[in-house]
Amino acid sequence: MSLKLDTRFHCGPTAMRLPVLCHIAGSRSISDDVPMTTFKHITVAPLAASIGAEISGVDLSAAMPDEVWQEIHQAYLDYIVLFFRDQTLTPTDQVNFAARFGPIGKYPFAQPVEGHPDVIAIIKEAHQTSNFGGIWHTDTTYLECPSLGSALYAREVPPVGGDTMWANQYAAYDALSDGLKEMLDGLKLLNSASKNKASLREDHLADGAMKGQDESRMDVQQAFHPVVRTHPETGRKALYVSEAHAVCFEGWTVEESTPLLGYLYEHTRKPEFTCRFSWTVNTLTIWDNRCGLHYPLNDYHGHRRELYRVTIEGDRPV
Ligand code: SIN
Repeated sequence: MSLKLDTRFHCGPTAMRLPVLCHIAGSRSISDDVPMTTFKHITVAPLAASIGAEISGVDLSAAMPDEVWQEIHQAYLDYIVLFFRDQTLTPTDQVNFAARFGPIGKYPFAQPVEGHPDVIAIIKEAHQTSNFGGIWHTDTTYLECPSLGSALYAREVPPVGGDTMWANQYAAYDALSDGLKEMLDGLKLLNSASKNKASLREDHLADGAMKGQDESRMDVQQAFHPVVRTHPETGRKALYVSEAHAVCFEGWTVEESTPLLGYLYEHTRKPEFTCRFSWTVNTLTIWDNRCGLHYPLNDYHGHRRELYRVTIEGDRPV
């Protein structure tokens, strides 16, 4: 079975043998993904048609009235990733803002910033060539309860490059054929912390300012999660396939799983589901790991990049 023949068409089993019977899937158009919420207290400027919005008109270090928080939270649910430029934040401000979205969690495999147990520094030094987390992923899918979201604050950025991309996984799910949706609904995927551990973390942590911790746990930390999860707040279905950590479908061998996983990896990050953000110092970004993937580009060798990350604890995906 070739799932990659022509991505404009989704074919039922019969149609696959007889291409003339293929039909164009009844997927939502990209414009269907643009939310219709009206905001009164913040300014929301979408970054791309499917995902991401820049928010202005708010100071994240100041006390936040409830009506402003409600709108930020709604924008988060609508756009999956939000960007707040020109924010002067201490690590405590960053933690306090992230804590409005859910309980603060811990990233298991990097040491926290001294004096700030809830913050890790994602640093690529000028001499380093690997970057941290440089494969499309959603955070910590190898945990029983993976991260709900992450808040990233830019402290130092390269003059050019070092962008991060995100991909809307509601849109990725919606665009699948009914046949593939039916097959994936109910399937579970094994996610392992040990997959790609060298390229994702170890190579990078070996010769830079970031320091690892609990490395032995990486080899055993794994969890099964649904391939299609229902977002607990929006009720929408999203693909939950993270290339960095996905190993195989439950009850399938790795060999059997690899072709379909390969198709899904390519599908989940089709350009029309993505946005790309160019960082400036003092930008705070917060994203929803339950319905979005992200990918930090590694195109700025010779320059230093440093961001502080806070992890928000999530629930068990269903
Ligand atoms: C990550 O949290 O995966 C890193 C994102 C980035 O460095 O842009």
